Amino acid sequence: MAKYRGNPDSVRNLVRETEVHRDVYVDPEIFDLEMEHLFANTWVYVGHGSQIPNPGDYFTTSIGAQPVIMVRHSDGTIKVLYNRCPHKGTKIAIDGCGNTGKFFRCPYHAWTFKTDGSLLAIPLKKGYENTGFEHCEAAKGMTPVKHVQNYREFVFAKMNDNGPGFEAFFGDSLSSFDNMIDRSPAGKLEVAGGVLRYVNNCNWKMLVENQTDTCHPMVAHESSAGTARDVWKPYEGTGKPKPMAVEIFLPFVSPYEFFEGMGIRVWDNGHGHTGVAHSIHSDYAAVPGYFEQMKEAYGEDRAKAILGENRHNTVYFPNIMIKGPIQLLRIFRPLAANKTLIESYTFRLVDAPDLLLERTQMYNRLINAPTSVVGHDDQEMYERAQEGLAANGNEWVNVQRLYDPCERDTPVAVANGTTEWQMRNQFRAWSKFMTMSM
Ligand SMILES: [Fe+2]
Repeated sequence: MAKYRGNPDSVRNLVRETEVHRDVYVDPEIFDLEMEHLFANTWVYVGHGSQIPNPGDYFTTSIGAQPVIMVRHSDGTIKVLYNRCPHKGTKIAIDGCGNTGKFFRCPYHAWTFKTDGSLLAIPLKKGYENTGFEHCEAAKGMTPVKHVQNYREFVFAKMNDNGPGFEAFFGDSLSSFDNMIDRSPAGKLEVAGGVLRYVNNCNWKMLVENQTDTCHPMVAHESSAGTARDVWKPYEGTGKPKPMAVEIFLPFVSPYEFFEGMGIRVWDNGHGHTGVAHSIHSDYAAVPGYFEQMKEAYGEDRAKAILGENRHNTVYFPNIMIKGPIQLLRIFRPLAANKTLIESYTFRLVDAPDLLLERTQMYNRLINAPTSVVGHDDQEMYERAQEGLAANGNEWVNVQRLYDPCERDTPVAVANGTTEWQMRNQFRAWSKFMTMSM
């Protein structure tokens, strides 16, 4: 018998003020409800406009468990369509990306669709005369996802009518996207360097939580980043230029005080970011010529303000994280209660020096690749947690660190960087968006 379906109170009871029940991570029924409700009531990231620059270009992905196609329509706008033929359900596009020309063609019976999804033609159309076909669902063509928003080329979609509009959902958190994009002198980003993908045997929310978990780097990454620190030690202060890789690794083993002082900002609806005062990205070497280009584009004060913002990880609820100073976006795509596909995309800052993209890609390889060093420390922790949650005796996960009973009254706030407020914030949003359409 269903334990949670049709029973929103039982779902709400999984999230206490400072604890969450293990079922949010391990229960397949909860996972199915997340796909039906949470991922339908929230604005979920789909892709970037630069992945589909020309009419007919498409990119296939999923929103929760729903297969979708993001496509550049003939009028230049971006459409997001459910990836199925309205005839028999056949997936229309199976490649990760491509160009479909002026229309999609189903490989099964050759029904064709314009790039906005509308039905273009059916072979032997006579067979549908006088059947009332024009009034049926299939005649409408491929179904578009209802709500789509293109925010400075970052495309989001919301499947349900429930839930807030785009601006209300994200509010001021969009400032992290703005900062990442404004770091290009042209105010433009392009996906560059492909995508790194791997699967972890854990729940997707563990990865989202970890993005603002500042009490683990000095512990979990001691073996990887700590080794880099030890290897570099003999050269410290010798005048030898610090290699880019060392610059990237070292801050991971900064002491607790570093992370306390960096601060966390929490926004309503589950969004938040670490690195308010400074971050692990603050001390990277200046790239020759870059500031001059920024000054030219924005004026000195504005250029300084843009580059002075060193946000660490910004979580956009439910399932992406961006790093403005590194121009990187990670998606935590849920596959099952205990399986998550992680995708890490890197961006070129248009009109900026190539060295910046080099750093971005080096960061991605060292931290987020299937062959990375740092990322595997985290993977080990998530997978142990997924296994450990099966242990009986205690069914609750603790998120109490620096809890303040009044924090619910403050939808936007800055706090000590080691607080677990952002995790509590995510679970409050989880509870709200899970149950608003149940
Ligand atoms: Fe980590």
